[in-house]
Amino acid sequence: MSPADFSMDNQWLPFTPNRHFRKDPRVFVAAEGMHFTTHDGKQVVDGISSLWCVAAGHNRRPINEAIKRQLDTLDYATAFQVSNDQAFRAAEMIAALAPGDLNKVLFCNSGSEAADTSLKVALAYHRARGEGQRNVFIGRERGYHGVGFGGMSVGGIPANRKVFGAAMLPRVDHLRFIHDPVNHAYIHGVEPVWSEDPLLELETRILPLHDPSNVAAIIVEPVAGSAGWYIPPKAYLQRLRAICDKHGILLIFDEVITGFGRLGTAFASDYYGVVPDMLNFAKAVTNGVIPLGGVICRDAIFDAMMSGPENAIEFFHGYTYSGHPVACAAAIATIELFQSEDLFARAGTMGKTLGDAMHSALKGLPAVTGIRTLGLAGAVELAPIPGAPGKRAFEIFLDCFHRGVLVRAAGENLVLAPAFIVEQGHIDQMVSTLADSIKRHA
Ligand SMILES: Cc1ncc(COP(=O)(O)O)c(C=O)c1O
Repeated sequence: MSPADFSMDNQWLPFTPNRHFRKDPRVFVAAEGMHFTTHDGKQVVDGISSLWCVAAGHNRRPINEAIKRQLDTLDYATAFQVSNDQAFRAAEMIAALAPGDLNKVLFCNSGSEAADTSLKVALAYHRARGEGQRNVFIGRERGYHGVGFGGMSVGGIPANRKVFGAAMLPRVDHLRFIHDPVNHAYIHGVEPVWSEDPLLELETRILPLHDPSNVAAIIVEPVAGSAGWYIPPKAYLQRLRAICDKHGILLIFDEVITGFGRLGTAFASDYYGVVPDMLNFAKAVTNGVIPLGGVICRDAIFDAMMSGPENAIEFFHGYTYSGHPVACAAAIATIELFQSEDLFARAGTMGKTLGDAMHSALKGLPAVTGIRTLGLAGAVELAPIPGAPGKRAFEIFLDCFHRGVLVRAAGENLVLAPAFIVEQGHIDQMVSTLADSIKRHA
C-alpha cells in the first residue's frame, strides 16, 4: 500500500504539522510485538509504546480474543440507569490493583475526560459536604491533563494558554515546575534531592493568596510525562499529600502515563508511597487497543456524595460510553496479561537497562543538556536551535523514524518509553539510532 492508494485530503491530523506530514507521510498499516509496518513496507520499532499506551506490546492475542468474544456476546449497552457485567468486573480489578482505599471507579474514555471528571468530582464532593466555596484548582506549570477546558486550565502548557486562554476556568493557579537544569540535569533512576523547597511557594504564596479554605483540589502528574519525563524532587509528593491533608484539599494524581506499570509498580502512587484522593488513568489500561479512561476515587469521596433521595442521581456526570463493555473486556484481558507475564516487574528491570544505555550512549554528545531516566522511560534534552524552539527535536524525531525507530519529540526533549516486553536488542537499536541522529543534528 502507498499513499497513492488512499486520499490524504480529508483527515485533519491531531497535534501534527499537517502540511509537513503531507510531504513526508508516516502511515502504519500493521503492528506486531515491538514493531510497526509502514505503508511502504518498512519495519519501525515502537520506542514509545505508541504514546505510553501499548505497554504489553502490539497485537496481543489474549486482548484481541477478549474483544472479539465480547463483540459477539454484548456489543454495547447504555451506561445510564443500567450497566454491564464487564464494567463491574473491570472496576473490581482496577480497584484491587489501586493502592489504599482507592476503590470507586468512574469510567470515561480518555485521559482528557478523566481530568475533567476528577475536577468535577472535587467540586461536587466539597459541595455535598457543605464546602461549596472550595472552587479553586491548583495545577503545575508544564503539566498536561489533556485537551478539555478543565484539563487545559489546570495544565500548564504555554501553547494552550496562548490560543485558548480566554476560555479557561477562572479560578486556577499553578505550582512551579519541577526541574532544576543546573544541579539535576542528569537523573538516572533516583529521586533528585533539591537544596531548596519547591513547595515553599505553595505554602507561603499560593495558598495564602486564595485562602486554603477555597481550594478544591491540587492536580499533578507524579512524573511529568508529556512535557518530557521530568522527575519530582525527593519527598515532593509526600509533602504535597501532607499539605493537602492539613488544609482539606483533595489531591489528584494524573496517572494517565504512569499508571499500569511504567515505573515498575502498578501506579506511581505505589512507587512513591503516596495515596492520592483521586487517581486518573487511561492509555495502558486497555493496552491502547480501545479507548478507556477513568478516575479511581477514595471510598470517602463516594460515601460523602451518597446523600439526597435514593431515586435522585448523586453525581450529575457521565459519558454515553462510560464503562463500554468491549473496552472493559479489553481492560480485563490486559490486566490479566500484565499479571500472568509479570510485566510491571519487567518494566522495572528493563527500565534499568534503558537508563544505563541512555546515559552511557547520550551523555556528552553535542547539544545534549540533560538526560532523565526513571522506570521504563527516559528523556534526553537538547539545547534549542536559537530562534527555532523544538526544531532540533522534531528533525531528530523524523530522522529516527526514517531509520526505523519511533521516538517522541516533546519540546526540546526526545523521549523513549518502550513496551514492557522490550528486549536488550531493541534498546540498543533505539538508543544507538537516537545517538547517531543527535550527532547528525548537532
Ligand atoms: C498525564 C496525561 N493526562 C491526560 C492526557 C490526555 O489523555 P487523552 O489524550 O487520552 O485525552 C495525557 C495524554 O498524553 C497525559 O499524558
